[in-house]
Amino acid sequence: MTRRILVTSALPYANGSIHLGHLVEYIQTDIWVRFQKLQGHDCLYVCADDTHGTPIMIRARNEGITPEALVQRMHQEHQADFQAFAIAFDNYHSTHSEENRLLAEEVYRNNRAAGHIAVATVHQAYCNKDAMFLPDRFIRGTCPSCGALDQYGDACEHCSATYSPLDLKQAACALCGEKPVQNSSEHLFFQLSRFEAFLKEWTRSGTLQPEMANKLEEWFSSGLKDWDISRDAPYFGFAIPDMPDKYFYVWLDAPIGYMASTWHLCKRSGRDFDAYWRPGSTAEVYHFIGKDILYFHTLFWPAMLQGAGFRTPTAVFAHGFLTVNGQKMSKSRGTFINARTYLDFLDPEYLRYYYACKLTGRVDDLDLNLEDFILRVNADMVGKVVNLAARTAGFLHKQFQGQLSAPYPEDGGLYTTFVQAGEEIAQFYEAREYARAIRLIMALADSANRYIEVRAPWNLAKQNQWVALQESCSVAINLFRVLMTYLAPVLPVMAEKVRHLLNLPELSWAGRCVPLSGSSIQEFKHLMARIDPKQVEAMLAASRPSSPESAAPPPAAAHPSASESASPPPAPSSPPITLETFTQVDLRVARILQAEQVPGADKLLKLTLDVGVLGQRTVFAGIRAAYTPESLHNRLTVVVANLAPRKMKFGLSEGMVLAASHGQGADKTALYLLAADSGAEPGMRIQ
Ligand code: 2FM
Ligand code: ZN
Repeated sequence: MTRRILVTSALPYANGSIHLGHLVEYIQTDIWVRFQKLQGHDCLYVCADDTHGTPIMIRARNEGITPEALVQRMHQEHQADFQAFAIAFDNYHSTHSEENRLLAEEVYRNNRAAGHIAVATVHQAYCNKDAMFLPDRFIRGTCPSCGALDQYGDACEHCSATYSPLDLKQAACALCGEKPVQNSSEHLFFQLSRFEAFLKEWTRSGTLQPEMANKLEEWFSSGLKDWDISRDAPYFGFAIPDMPDKYFYVWLDAPIGYMASTWHLCKRSGRDFDAYWRPGSTAEVYHFIGKDILYFHTLFWPAMLQGAGFRTPTAVFAHGFLTVNGQKMSKSRGTFINARTYLDFLDPEYLRYYYACKLTGRVDDLDLNLEDFILRVNADMVGKVVNLAARTAGFLHKQFQGQLSAPYPEDGGLYTTFVQAGEEIAQFYEAREYARAIRLIMALADSANRYIEVRAPWNLAKQNQWVALQESCSVAINLFRVLMTYLAPVLPVMAEKVRHLLNLPELSWAGRCVPLSGSSIQEFKHLMARIDPKQVEAMLAASRPSSPESAAPPPAAAHPSASESASPPPAPSSPPITLETFTQVDLRVARILQAEQVPGADKLLKLTLDVGVLGQRTVFAGIRAAYTPESLHNRLTVVVANLAPRKMKFGLSEGMVLAASHGQGADKTALYLLAADSGAEPGMRIQ
């Protein structure tokens, strides 16, 4: 029976480039969609750019362009990247679209009419200079709990305390440095708690992976909280129809973008939007997402749909995060790799294959181990799969005008085994257990290679055993065809080349059941090259901050502490100060006598400094991600010697060492301690 399926991946923010972390999800989804299509199902894959919100507004302002122009540019960039990785969306739209505006208004109005929206006054940090309310990530200050400097408005990266931005000490607007004031404003709240019974039922109806269902149980037991769905002007988003100067919060209209993209597709392809999203829809609707946005997709989203009288998703599939060589992606190690940079050095199908080797139906993180990546791709794709054709197609072409034996020769039951394995492989794909599918496919490839080794067509050719030669090569090509059918969802570009090689109108799952006999194949052309480790090294080098490819915004704050996944604004340049003000800062050369890790603080190193005439100082510095303690021993650096001592959870910090970075929110591993040239002595004043 043909299934009608609608699939989505999370909508990427329009203020950043696609990187290898994003691609885990798009590749995972694309493989699943291609598999469904190969099965003959009516499957659509839609996505869009997630365009609204303060960070996009601010970035556009900093670039001196309109948010619309920024969003437009990023749309082109994202689409080009996706296309290069063979991510085959049936539609790629934008949340800043008329379809999305109309649907967002409908979802809102219906919920409001049903009594699910409440109005309440909120007190928030406000910057008088920028004339705007400041989102938590746009406020920096001192942690009220441990005293760590330069923390975000919602949580401390040193002691992990969470707090309200209003409790932050010495709070400053991240845009202009002004002290925020407290202002009140009326906001709209979606009353999630009214949906508790519905959500409990929905989450238990096979919609979630077991790990996710457990997480939801925790959220249910801690109580569902109302959700603030409005933001004050200025804001880049959709104006709320009946509330002047209020806008929908970006996360309200983002998932509605799934519907807007479907609508946009339906309009241009003559399909029926209602068949996907209105009640009575029999389509299957699946969202692929990262584990970090579970709350939005399993609580707010189904509740909003339910409240507005739309249908709810069939299931939500969450995946884990990407690590590279076992660690979080890092700019300084060159492992924060943009899609574009990867494409400059490597074939996208290598990555598709490697991710497929590692993907499961669970929420586990996925590690891109670059050494393993090279070995796997070279051994499996080139060594086991491509070689089957490379070693046999030539003989068919040279000796038999490309013609395959007819009837299909006796092969000891190999072909039948290959066809039967398709059932289990299909089940693995369906369950998103790609790693298991690939293992099975590679086991088949091993048996095909054993067959060739035993038949040794190169010897048959030497011995003029023409019938045996044609037969063994025909078997090999037929086995290769089945393998490539199984790999087609993962390697669509190579599968297309193989389809052409074999003169086939299509590679379809059902089509594999009958072997090719008597037909001709084209001349074999190169299918895939081995990875040279130098290509990977070059990609890493190009991803490091010093390289021109990754030129970053001008350095500003010297004390980065934001997470790399956040999207804070580039740091502003500071207002001018007098020389007198500057000289109030006592900057001294210091020698690092000792650097130690601090138990319980994974970002800090404890430094013992020799500051010459000023004696020894202990300083806690947030540089652990960038430096090992050993590498710092005996180095000269610069310390702010007259900073008031700060009591931290781990002890007293008597100053601050200076380091350069790309500013707030930059990679914490891309951090460069300032040093004095050799010859400078501890205690010397910097002026
Ligand atoms: O987390 C993110 O990157 C969001 N832009 C995902 C949005 S998914 C959907 F809800 F729109
Ligand atoms: Zn400000």
